[in-house]
Amino acid sequence: MCGIIGYTGNSQALPVLIQGIRLLSYRGYDSAGVSVWRAGALHVRRDPGRIEDLAPGWDPDALAGTTGVGHTRWATHGVPNRVNAHPHSDADGAVALVHNGIVENDLALRKELEADGVKFTSDTDTEVLAHLFARAFRGDPVAAARDLLRRCRGQFALAIQHRDLPHTLLAVRRGSPLLIGLGVRENLVASDLRPLVGRADRVLDMGEDEIAVVTPTTVELFDAAGAPVVREPRPVDHTEREIGKDGHAHFMLKEMHEQPHRLYELVASRVDSDGRLVRFDDVGIDDDAWRRFSRVDLVGAGTAYHACLYGAQVIETLARIPARAVMSHEYAAAQPVLGPDVLVIAVSQSGETMDTKVALEAALEGDAATLGVLNVRQSVIGRMAGGVMDLHAGPEISVASTKAHTSMLCALALLALKAAQARGVTSTPYGDIARALWALPDAVRMALADFGAAAEAARDVRRADHMLYLGRSWDSSTALEGALKMKEISYIHAEGYAAGELKHGPIALVSREVPTVAIVTPGRMRERMLGNVREVRAREGEILIVASKDDEEARFLADFVLPVPTLDERIAPIVNVVPLQVLAYETARLRGCDIDQPRNLAKTVTVQ
Ligand code: AGP
Repeated sequence: MCGIIGYTGNSQALPVLIQGIRLLSYRGYDSAGVSVWRAGALHVRRDPGRIEDLAPGWDPDALAGTTGVGHTRWATHGVPNRVNAHPHSDADGAVALVHNGIVENDLALRKELEADGVKFTSDTDTEVLAHLFARAFRGDPVAAARDLLRRCRGQFALAIQHRDLPHTLLAVRRGSPLLIGLGVRENLVASDLRPLVGRADRVLDMGEDEIAVVTPTTVELFDAAGAPVVREPRPVDHTEREIGKDGHAHFMLKEMHEQPHRLYELVASRVDSDGRLVRFDDVGIDDDAWRRFSRVDLVGAGTAYHACLYGAQVIETLARIPARAVMSHEYAAAQPVLGPDVLVIAVSQSGETMDTKVALEAALEGDAATLGVLNVRQSVIGRMAGGVMDLHAGPEISVASTKAHTSMLCALALLALKAAQARGVTSTPYGDIARALWALPDAVRMALADFGAAAEAARDVRRADHMLYLGRSWDSSTALEGALKMKEISYIHAEGYAAGELKHGPIALVSREVPTVAIVTPGRMRERMLGNVREVRAREGEILIVASKDDEEARFLADFVLPVPTLDERIAPIVNVVPLQVLAYETARLRGCDIDQPRNLAKTVTVQ
């Protein structure tokens, strides 16, 4: 979490740092700060709040200078206030240091420093690093950085300035990503590519336990032993450039409306219209490998985990390989039985989620075959996984994931079709699945066109404190995702259940004050879902039903119908989730919530 930007060159650093913080705010936005070197001193400004509100109050004269570092924070250690905001310094103000990640042995180090007379001013683990670096610095920044790597455990990325090094930034990386952007007589340090685009034309990915000394015209890389490292920079991918809302009120709204097009591109790039040709030469798994696998584990977190639940079902059903979804943060601890006949699929929008990275590490250690289903190919997980299937959903800015989620579901269905084909599964109706996939973009377009139905329901549920979401079989994960979207952005407490669970406990919650959302689209489970709906009705519960437009029975039973086109039930979850996105969006909007940057959350969770 958190975002790092550093600049050294001929321009004023402050505007570059502020713009960088703005572009990195999707990683955390509870406070921000900068430090700039001028006239032998480091000038620091840091405040709680969002950069849009803070930057106008930061005095460009007080912060004039051409070398500086900036940070946007997602609090892990200590509340979001001024003293806990980065940059952190030592008592003399000789060092300004910004940090992503967590120092795991910070308490032991803090005790040791306090015993030695150091007075701490914040609750953060980061301040430990600032004091340690200041004490280790004897004119050689690499030696001081090596000392940090030796003494600190955890995952962290650091950008550091020292008052004695006017035009120098120091970058240190362990676990968390850190990049050096190479420009013309200016260089930058950043925790991801976004703030580098437009200034840097090439980028250098820092490796594990590496140190970089960056000036406006030079970049030197060293390993943890202090030996020089030589690495070729790569060109900057300009598709990562800053994107706007294209006239939409929120990124979430824009991203929901992008779904038909993104799904069309994904389907069109992989499968022909009758499902005979499924192109997957680029993902690093050949037909022999598909035939060899005896199990598929899908790992992800949050929305990506919900995609894993669907993925496990579609792979097992179509390709007849035992498949399961495991929350990525639970994976390594469960000590899974692994080996070359197990395929582990890491599903992630960002490709940087630490929990998912750790799960992938466990898979690699266990000698399993690995695949990343990712929206950012050039990401930590993208570089680790044996193969990558790119979602091509385009940059997703809203913290609440929408288009990446539907692209994940679609990608996993395509992958299942490919696996079925490679394994020669005769029971799979390739033509039916391919037709449903081809129908998907229009179906999602139609579901979005019925925005008004969800908006009307939102006017009612906006007053709720609690909600229930129910779905069965293919749509049990849709229910979980619908509930997550609602709680994430509207702050209504929403629980998703496989509807079979209803009678085993959750029915105790049903009342007029707790709206229940039920997914009742055509398929084998429809009658049973209608049974659940009646059970809720009998207890005077309010009911919202995701149903086919022409479903009279659903219309009769529901307080509100959220209409969707009818698709093969194995593909339908990809469209059924859409009205639930809209319902959450509209509810959050009516409740006046900050939709794109909900409280306490960050887009990319780079700590465990
Ligand atoms: C989605 O709306 C959430 N913000 C969150 O659950 C997210 O899906 C999760 O943190 C995983 O992120 P990833 O896809 O980037 O790995």
